[in-house]
Amino acid sequence: MTPPEVAARSLPAGIIPGQPLTALAPMQDVTDRAFMGVVAHYGAPDYFFTEFFRVHGQSRPERHILRSIDENATGRPVFAQLIGEDIPHLKRTAQKLLKHPVAGIDLNLGCPAPKVYKKNVGGGLLRDPARIDEIIAALRACTPGLFTVKMRIGFDNTTPFESVVESVNRHGVNLLSVHGRTVKEMYRSDVHYDFIARAAALARCPVLANGNVTSANRAAEILASTKSAGVMIGRHAIRNPWIFRQCREKFAGRTPTLITLADVREYVERLYRATQNADFPERAHVNKMKKYLNFVGQSVDATGAFLHDMRRTSTEAELFTVCDRHLLANPGQPFADEPYPGVIARPNCETPSSCSLDEITA
Ligand SMILES: Cc1cc2nc3c(=O)[nH]c(=O)nc-3n(C[C@H](O)[C@H](O)[C@H](O)COP(=O)(O)O)c2cc1C
Repeated sequence: MTPPEVAARSLPAGIIPGQPLTALAPMQDVTDRAFMGVVAHYGAPDYFFTEFFRVHGQSRPERHILRSIDENATGRPVFAQLIGEDIPHLKRTAQKLLKHPVAGIDLNLGCPAPKVYKKNVGGGLLRDPARIDEIIAALRACTPGLFTVKMRIGFDNTTPFESVVESVNRHGVNLLSVHGRTVKEMYRSDVHYDFIARAAALARCPVLANGNVTSANRAAEILASTKSAGVMIGRHAIRNPWIFRQCREKFAGRTPTLITLADVREYVERLYRATQNADFPERAHVNKMKKYLNFVGQSVDATGAFLHDMRRTSTEAELFTVCDRHLLANPGQPFADEPYPGVIARPNCETPSSCSLDEITA
């Protein structure tokens, strides 16, 4: 029989027991209650993660992020992510969050925005593996349930990589997500899947492979090459919210469902309505939609014509006119599984000042 303290710390079962795990990556300004609900509609991942709660002397858990936990209607567990370096305040915040229906507490060791890493939090901590060890020990000690870590493979080199994985092992972390880039590599470089494979071999807990998991087929290839327990998907779930369902189909040996441009038109409508808010002026809402559509447009047409026209809209009516023109002219046309080469989401910024949708592209 499993001892109670171990049972209490086992990961929630996946949707299809025995399959590799899937998770929606935490994304600031994106993975809120509304977006999680939309993704769940098309096929939830096994796990959700909140965007990060900022932790410092004066911080209180942000109310809009708490909504993604307290009003979680996805039917799947949500882990609460923290970013910070002050141990008493990290503990205080974890204890507060544990009073909400979280699946566990997750520590961010990856945010690459200079504004963030200069404070020695997120990816900045990767310059100080000894400090990471203290933080992991402290959060482990105050988290009776699941405690997970999300890391990049280093700051400007990969020297601390193994030492961080050793801390993960030493303190009994329950799940490790590895984004296979250094902080300095931001979001566009090749992903170092060899390091994810090393993490999967070294870590005693399951490892989720993260970075450019673009499709169900790529997920299967990355799982085979890294021997990870699952995949974590961010930007490509904004582009294609069917991706988790397609992964489950692929893992079961079936052909992933084909998505058409008409399906995408329906997704745009659903996302628009889900993120609409009486206090949010139409122009601002359209601008927010354009940020999601930057990713969606990468699979609509090879020339970037949808992106070009979509970026020039400023009202709801204009936005949906452009969507109708590009997505309903040939409604049965496939939405490409992979982004079209060279069709890049803008703004084309590789040094974001925050981990926000305004600044990060694919
Ligand atoms: C808009 C945006 C916001 C992000 N915010 C966070 C965050 O709050 N916490 C975090 O650990 N990673 C954050 N990330 C990084 C993602 O979780 C993920 O590691 C990265 O995008 C690579 O995965 P992908 O290629 O599947 O997008 C963010 C990424 C994007 C694009």
